[in-house]
Amino acid sequence: MKLIYAQIWKEAAHFLKKGRKWDYLHTKIIIRYAEKLSKLNNIDGMILMPAVILHDIGWGVLPKKLKINYRGKQARLAHMRAGAKLARQILLKINFPRQYISEIVHLVGVHDLPSESIGGILTAKYERLLRDIDLLWRFTKEGFWKDIRERKIEDPDVFLKHIIASAKKEKAFGFPGTKAFFRKLIKGLEKEIKEEPTVG
Ligand SMILES: [Fe+2]
Repeated sequence: MKLIYAQIWKEAAHFLKKGRKWDYLHTKIIIRYAEKLSKLNNIDGMILMPAVILHDIGWGVLPKKLKINYRGKQARLAHMRAGAKLARQILLKINFPRQYISEIVHLVGVHDLPSESIGGILTAKYERLLRDIDLLWRFTKEGFWKDIRERKIEDPDVFLKHIIASAKKEKAFGFPGTKAFFRKLIKGLEKEIKEEPTVG
């Protein structure tokens, strides 16, 4: 990871560890895919990487009540708002190039708008890419099994088929230029997913 991203990660990790119990792992894992995506043509890592690293830091400063009810609209809005504020502070603190800051802060502030917004409100390139990278978590071994445990899903195979089908149907992962990247990635992850990871 580039030094400047590692600096952001160090600051973000502090908040991610205080967020929901999977926030740190979630972010650590999806950063890998953001790094790969950043190598594609026409994608600026200086926007995408900080946005991915910082997108969920807001959870770290929310009261327990909102963290528990994290699917609720109030919690979703609150973590985006708090996250955007913290993101700006962090980027200024580490002297991140000024020209990128407002866009990164914007992305953190809108990344979790309700799902009807996919392809609707969130249409700009990096809005879509951040959303896609975030959603990719569901298709990683760690994210998949977290959902199985947390939602008390009885049949992992059925759930896997369900999310794979929804990825094809949803407007997610359909951004021109990155569609093939995500399709290939999900196909690979589908094979890995089946073996349940051991939790400490
Ligand atoms: Fe989020």
